[in-house]
Amino acid sequence: MEKPKVLSARFDLPDSHRLEVYRRTGGYRALEKALREMTPEDVIEEVKKSALRGRGGAGFSTGLKWSFVPKDSGKPTYVICNADESEPGTCKDRLIMEKDPHAMIEGILIAAYAIGAHLAFIYIRGEYWYLKEIVEGAVEEARAGGYVGANILGSGFDCDIIVHPGAGAYICGEETALMESLEGKRAYPRIKPPFPAVVGLYGCPTIINNVETLASVPPIILNGGDWFRRLGTEKSGGTRLFAVSGHVERPGVYELPMGYPMKAMIYEDCGGIRQGRCLKAVIPGGSSAPILTAEEAEACTLDFESLAALRSMLGSGAIIIMDETTDLVKVVYRIARFYAHESCGWCVPCREGTRWMVKILERLLSGRGRTRDLDLLYDLARNIFGTTHCPLGDAAAWAVYPAIEKFRADFEKYVTQPTVALTTVPAG
Ligand SMILES: Cc1cc2nc3c(=O)[nH]c(=O)nc-3n(C[C@H](O)[C@H](O)[C@H](O)COP(=O)(O)O)c2cc1C
Ligand code: SF4
Repeated sequence: MEKPKVLSARFDLPDSHRLEVYRRTGGYRALEKALREMTPEDVIEEVKKSALRGRGGAGFSTGLKWSFVPKDSGKPTYVICNADESEPGTCKDRLIMEKDPHAMIEGILIAAYAIGAHLAFIYIRGEYWYLKEIVEGAVEEARAGGYVGANILGSGFDCDIIVHPGAGAYICGEETALMESLEGKRAYPRIKPPFPAVVGLYGCPTIINNVETLASVPPIILNGGDWFRRLGTEKSGGTRLFAVSGHVERPGVYELPMGYPMKAMIYEDCGGIRQGRCLKAVIPGGSSAPILTAEEAEACTLDFESLAALRSMLGSGAIIIMDETTDLVKVVYRIARFYAHESCGWCVPCREGTRWMVKILERLLSGRGRTRDLDLLYDLARNIFGTTHCPLGDAAAWAVYPAIEKFRADFEKYVTQPTVALTTVPAG
């Protein structure tokens, strides 16, 4: 299967983050094309045709999302680039911002033109302070080059971009919590509907997209939606950056076409399981995605449909590979602690449930677990799922109950063989 470089084409060029390099390699031609030759409706149609689906987690159709923005609201509209990148295992937006920030900026400007926005925000993870400097530098270069600000490229279209630091919590990446945070408030998620396309930032229509989603837009406009779709599958167009971590010989960020076999990614691109060991499990889409067995992982392809058929998801494209030596109770405990820590506390099933899950896992790990704890943990996770205010609660449940369903023996051994218990369990 071919592996075209669309998003990572410039990553290895010297000074790839500079405007001069971007322009020399075809940069800002898509913006020029959109402004001079296309109506905003044409742009949205092209993006719909491309089968581009959000790279931030949920995989929603980007063109469809843009088409939901009302044209006659009488209010300003905004574009937000979600650069909060806090999902465990995810580290691919970082590369775009470091190596090719103008691709993201050009995508933002095309999105703004498509929905009639004159102001855009890049909400960038607080810990990425060093990237904020690179991104701010790129915005300034683009402004000096006539691509950002008033009368862009003499087209009469105006759009400014503000780079804003994130507030340092995982929940700030959830789109409505992010808007609260941008407005200067505590990042509590909002009730949906209304969705941000209709009532978003400052109560105005807002499109929010992930860094990688927006960086995929310029090649779509330049080469056509059909070209992009054909790189991937009918329903999951294009290529994607996969952040592969864990027990492979060559972890890293790989650009691969949608529909690429996971088995080829693990054993060819990533050099196989470290030290010749066997694969045990894979978490395919950041810590929020339900775990896969080795058999499931080796049979699936890297696209939204294939993972959905396995009741998991491609999520943020972070793939965590675990070999036969992995103790999944420790893995689940580590992830459960993350969600308990990051729960914003707004709703009871998530605030209380995540902490209870941690407590039960601690009991198991310390050798004080009872057989009924496994069913208790399972029921607890099932009862969190679908009952919470935002998807963080579902993610916390998904990290637990599919692991019990698929790897029950790992959990049982802590009850039947107390000798495997840990002498010290880190505090939840
Ligand atoms: C708890 C939580 C954290 C999230 N963090 C991020 C994030 O860091 N970056 C991101 O792009 N999307 C994140 N999302 C998804 C966003 O809510 C939203 O779906 C996404 O920004 C939409 O962009 P897309 O359609 O381009 O994927 C998060 C969602 C949840 C529930
Ligand atoms: S599910 Fe968790 S993170 Fe989301 S609103 Fe409820 S308490 Fe907050």
